[in-house]
Amino acid sequence: MEIKLGKLHLQNPVMVASGTFGYGEEYHRLFDVNRLGAIVTKSISLKPRPGNPAPRIYETASGMINSIGLQNVGLEAFLKKKMPFLRKLKGPKVIVNLAGESVAEYVTLARRLEECERVDGLELNISCPNCERGGIQFGVDPKLTADLVGRVRRVTRRTLIAKLSPNVTDITVIARAAAEAGADALSLINTLLAIAVDAKRWLPRIATVTGGLSGPAIKPVALRMVWQVHRVLPKIPLIGIGGIMTAEDAVEFMLCGATAVEVGTANYVNPKAPLEIIEGLKAILSTRGLTSPRSLVGKLKTPQKLKGVPQMVSG
Ligand code: DHB
Repeated sequence: MEIKLGKLHLQNPVMVASGTFGYGEEYHRLFDVNRLGAIVTKSISLKPRPGNPAPRIYETASGMINSIGLQNVGLEAFLKKKMPFLRKLKGPKVIVNLAGESVAEYVTLARRLEECERVDGLELNISCPNCERGGIQFGVDPKLTADLVGRVRRVTRRTLIAKLSPNVTDITVIARAAAEAGADALSLINTLLAIAVDAKRWLPRIATVTGGLSGPAIKPVALRMVWQVHRVLPKIPLIGIGGIMTAEDAVEFMLCGATAVEVGTANYVNPKAPLEIIEGLKAILSTRGLTSPRSLVGKLKTPQKLKGVPQMVSG
């Protein structure tokens, strides 16, 4: 089940998505998190953040909308209080997700984490839809994306992952900018900007009005974006995210070009979903006589020439 993600060797391709798995410890009470391929922490910012006002989560058809506002303990408390648990883990790689309001803030975060032995990789959240500054502002502009990824690249030897926003016209433009600026891998997609309405009270369901839509509702969009990016950048490893609930969902992402996957919203429905996906994936590979998950990557059977179909793919 081992896979390579840039320089990193993961014991299996199943990771957990930032913001849905706390700092790892919370879920360790429910199952042995050592079995995961990688743990991606909640976004960490330089200073602690209290998050957005409630209500900030709402369940929608086949998904949910959230606007947490990057609530987190901040870098210093993360290093002191959360890293000790993560440091002890044997199986999974530890990826720290970073959120900054400026390039300088991302660079400071990356520099501090460079001193931290057990941090295997950094995932840049350039796609938070719920913050006034930073986040999505970087991820919707190829120049800002390239500048941010390039500046962080210069201060870290850790595996560097850019997490892309789907809230763009052509995700391949942003993907290329991140890859050329030195990202080792790309994770896609983050949540889709969305609104839910209470028609009786004429009120938005979320205090900040807009939030990020996740879950099975976005899976077809995520598959399309992974497929588009893999077609133009076949060499860069992709981490597929978006409504993965079952091993079969993971297989769909791998066929479209993902090397690994992150399980997010499913964790709220079934905290053991990532384990079930690891086991299910093993079973699917063995039934097909495949010896590695690698054999699935990009194997979607598509016509040689796609005529008359808008691909929205640049170059
Ligand atoms: C939040 C951040 C995200 O990156 C996202 O996709 C959704 C919500 C948040 O913290 O509000």
